Amino acid sequence: MKRSKATSGDLFAVPRSEREAIAEGAWLLPGFALGVADDLLAAILQVATAAPFRNMVTPGGFRMSVAMTNCGEAGWVTDRKGYRYQPVDPETGFPWPAMPAAFLDLAARAAEAAGFGGFRPDACLINRYEPGTRLTLHQDRNERDFAQPIVSVSLGIPATFLFGGDERKDRPKRVPVEHGDVVVWGGPARLAFHGVAELAEAEHSATGRRRYNITLRKAL
Ligand code: SIN
Ligand code: FE2
Repeated sequence: MKRSKATSGDLFAVPRSEREAIAEGAWLLPGFALGVADDLLAAILQVATAAPFRNMVTPGGFRMSVAMTNCGEAGWVTDRKGYRYQPVDPETGFPWPAMPAAFLDLAARAAEAAGFGGFRPDACLINRYEPGTRLTLHQDRNERDFAQPIVSVSLGIPATFLFGGDERKDRPKRVPVEHGDVVVWGGPARLAFHGVAELAEAEHSATGRRRYNITLRKAL
């Protein structure tokens, strides 16, 4: 497979082309979601009709360049009061749209492929990027149970996923991600700093000048 790097030893139970280690507990599953990408994109647009994409404000007062929405029992939000999960969309006053079955199914299969069995997310953050937008290094730490992994699916134009260590100063690894790629992290990597480098100008047949990322988590 095109991006597989040679590794020494026969470390993995599945062929290397199906998963590539990013760090201990973190895996890239190249093309894992390709077969359901159209379904995922249709579900994203459906969610966005009820809970529109919006640019949220960080506790420090900066408006994020990445537009976000959520589905599932709880949605991740940020405003001047802080980061948190909440069951109601602050923009609409209604509960977030239900988690599409296609999201649940993919999340469980991807987590399993990365060695995390029985994953059942209750929260899904949907990010929308355009060329020039980026997501600064951060930890996902608003969830209750850090024993649960995180599944992150890339759709549309390519990006560089940054995957660091447990401290912000740890130099992140640069992982190219494209349409249909899935990254799963948990265990020793669960609290790793991660982010997305500024996107370059690009166009994709399925999304135009956009990248969508869905991040599936067990938050509650
Ligand atoms: C995130 O960390 O919430 C999103 C990561 C990504 O867009 O790949
Ligand atoms: Fe994150």
